[in-house]
Amino acid sequence: MNRIILIGFMGAGKTTVGKRLAKRLAIPFFDTDQLIEKQEGMTVSRIFEEFGEPRFRELETRLLQTRWTDQEQWVLSAGGGLPLRDENRKLLKQAGKVAYLRVQTDTVLRRLKGDTSRPLLQGEDVRGRVDALLSCRGPLYEEAADFVVDADGKSPEDILRELLRLTDTL
Ligand code: S3P
Repeated sequence: MNRIILIGFMGAGKTTVGKRLAKRLAIPFFDTDQLIEKQEGMTVSRIFEEFGEPRFRELETRLLQTRWTDQEQWVLSAGGGLPLRDENRKLLKQAGKVAYLRVQTDTVLRRLKGDTSRPLLQGEDVRGRVDALLSCRGPLYEEAADFVVDADGKSPEDILRELLRLTDTL
């Protein structure tokens, strides 16, 4: 079975690495943010702006509950906040093998400098916010994960190699 889910903080490289992993394994790639944007016909930022974060979280849970996760093989990149709900962590575990791409604040800030597409990281004191979010989310990501890959200072290819080694054991 090749059903691999990448979780982790914004900027961890889930989408970049996930696409490469799917290509290497010649299986489909999905990204929860992209699926939600397509389904709702608006960007994640717009959903936050117009309907608020709770509505977005609801859409994430609903997406995980749909039957597409039954498909044989895929790689899924999960939005950074998706594993926060208990229910979602359970659904992820049932759906496939979960790999946590772990990064520290400096990596997030470097990778997402100037990014305007993440509503949670706009405005003042982004470092403080990333620190706070990472420290409350870290344990939940770890709880949801079957594997942890430390992604700081690594290229997408490095991370891909580690994931391929891990996927051999799936
Ligand atoms: C979020 C992460 C984003 C997106 C939304 C909220 C979060 O996805 O789902 O902006 O709460 O961490 P990425 O992790 O793909 O950036």
